[in-house]
Amino acid sequence: KKDQYILAIETSCDETAVAIIKNGNEVVSNVVASQIESHKRFGGVVPEVASRHHVEQMTHVLEEAFVKSNLEMESIDAIAVTQGPGLVGALLVGVSTAKALAFAHQKPLIGVHHIAGHIYANQLQEPFTFPLLALVVSGGHTELILMRDHYDFEVIGETRDDAAGEAYDKVARTLNLPYPGGPEIDRLAQEGVDRFDFPRAWLEEGSFDFSFSGLKSSVINTVHNAKQKGETVEIADIATSFQSSVTDVLVEKTYRAAEYYGVKEIIVAGGVAANSGLRSALLDRFDSSAIQVKIPPLWLCTDNAAMIGAAGMVAYEKGYRAGWDLNANPGLDI
Ligand code: KG4
Ligand code: ZN
Repeated sequence: KKDQYILAIETSCDETAVAIIKNGNEVVSNVVASQIESHKRFGGVVPEVASRHHVEQMTHVLEEAFVKSNLEMESIDAIAVTQGPGLVGALLVGVSTAKALAFAHQKPLIGVHHIAGHIYANQLQEPFTFPLLALVVSGGHTELILMRDHYDFEVIGETRDDAAGEAYDKVARTLNLPYPGGPEIDRLAQEGVDRFDFPRAWLEEGSFDFSFSGLKSSVINTVHNAKQKGETVEIADIATSFQSSVTDVLVEKTYRAAEYYGVKEIIVAGGVAANSGLRSALLDRFDSSAIQVKIPPLWLCTDNAAMIGAAGMVAYEKGYRAGWDLNANPGLDI
């Protein structure tokens, strides 16, 4: 059988990313131009700034992906692009690029859900075993997704307010840490003492939903109260206690859902999957269980286009095709 190549484009937030994937699981090239430095001084991603950067970077990133692959456009079998969710102006740059290329070179076009991409990042490591449960934790999402088969996503739990990564970034801002706050808190959490009893939102009995806004408020209040009293705030201890509250809930709900649905494996996806506390707590919790826990390497956790190519290949084989009316959809459902 002939080798198949997918060209994948991802621009949903603040990384301009292009990848070429061979036969669904081999990363031929994977280029990510991060805009973090440009957003840092604003303390978060500024949508308008993100869109402009994507426009500036796109052709360079595309060219680099082809140069690194030693392939020409004619070898590409299909073009996959993140259609949503994300920032609409940012998504539009990727979608317009993909459509223009697909039209000019007469290639099939595939719209990919950003979270499907994060989940399928794991297939670049190892094939899935169904049924599986995906814990998706990123800047915009916190979801437990049950998959009984390829490209079959059932959301069994989701956040009712802030996403896990969002809580990390907001708490980091309160602690005056640079953006993005997740990695900063993760680093500090390894130095502090777990001495603040921050809340854990278990919600109703049997619910697999999450809530992080109460935890976030509790941390912010603790910091403000200490400042008002003129006490020094031990930010490492805050980070440690905050991280243990987040991971306790994520890990325990994942465990209960995994048992309830009788899944064979857990896969972790999204930027917060890079968190060292979450990684070790999950492995510990499932240590004596027959359920396998798969966590992607760091470069596959945060936004990239290789994951869109991995998901795009599965969609391509299933016969999914987008028309010329493909549009960016900031609120796309999985
Ligand atoms: O998946 P991602 O790159 O972008 C979205 O789709 O949102 O996730 C970014 C999020 C940010 O909130 C960032 O702070 C968080 O992932 N993050 C982390 C860590 N690395 C990235 N959160 C906690 N610990 C980390 N080590
Ligand atoms: Zn993401």
